[in-house]
Amino acid sequence: METWTVKQLLEWTTDFFKKKGIEMPRLDAEILLSTTMKIKRIELYTNFETEPTETQRSLFREFVKRHSMGEPVAYLVGFKEFYSIPLKVDPNVLIPRPETELLVLETLDILKTFSDNSFPIVCDVGTGSGAIAIALAKNWPKSVKQTTIIAVDISSEALKIAESNAVLNNVDRQIVFCYSDLLSGVTETFDVIVCNLPYISCSEYELLPNHIKNFEPQQALLAGAQGTEIIERLTSQLPQKLKSGGSVLLECSPMIAQSVATLFTGWHSVKIIKDNAGYQRLVVAAKK
Ligand SMILES: C[S@@+](CC[C@H](N)C(=O)[O-])C[C@H]1O[C@@H](n2cnc3c(N)ncnc32)[C@H](O)[C@@H]1O
Repeated sequence: METWTVKQLLEWTTDFFKKKGIEMPRLDAEILLSTTMKIKRIELYTNFETEPTETQRSLFREFVKRHSMGEPVAYLVGFKEFYSIPLKVDPNVLIPRPETELLVLETLDILKTFSDNSFPIVCDVGTGSGAIAIALAKNWPKSVKQTTIIAVDISSEALKIAESNAVLNNVDRQIVFCYSDLLSGVTETFDVIVCNLPYISCSEYELLPNHIKNFEPQQALLAGAQGTEIIERLTSQLPQKLKSGGSVLLECSPMIAQSVATLFTGWHSVKIIKDNAGYQRLVVAAKK
């Protein structure tokens, strides 16, 4: 019978993924093989000459086939790391993106400005996997004693995953998850509102690569004809839901960042923040 070592499997698969135009062929091959073998990715390197069992190889073959047809690695293995935090993901939730870590960083900077005897209440609108709320709870500034985060979503399936991620990361007592269409289902007023809501326009959606369009939930991506529709609806709720002096931080695309910023004409310190790639990615504003 033909034998395949870890090293050979990785080399063959990397080459195969490259030919299929996959962006990170070696990394994806390593994640899929280490998951199949139930070992850490780094341990592949001390197991180069190991021959995975037939059961492991057949699961790996299945993963390789599905990934080559577009299925994201994160859905295949059921996990994605965000802000160095492990999160369970499945096709009911968007796979958290690295650029969203900027939103967490900026929100933490704002939270650090609260005095230690204040109890800011934060809302994460459109929480999905719970990525933002959980990253905030895990990294909550020590100077601010109490963590109170309300995380809402319009998808009850997403909320179930977010809740299990909060348990997984030991922050389930700091976050209240709640089904709500934007802020219409919550009665609180907030000090900080943070969101990565859908911001893709219909024409952009049509042009998305298949590994996104065919696998990630449309409800997490598509906003409407312009891309600003859901953010505009949220903005109209802010006068009632954001405390005076409170901040709102919104992730958006460079295509709509200027239009989103104009929604905050008359607010304090409106700014557009660029991501690491130099794209306008966040709009931040403070209510008078
Ligand atoms: C782009 S995903 C972001 C998920 C997560 N916050 C993240 O950054 O990975 C947008 C999320 O907003 C939710 N959503 C869409 N429309 C909504 C609405 N009207 N009210 C509440 N949540 C909504 C979707 O279900 C989805 O989970």
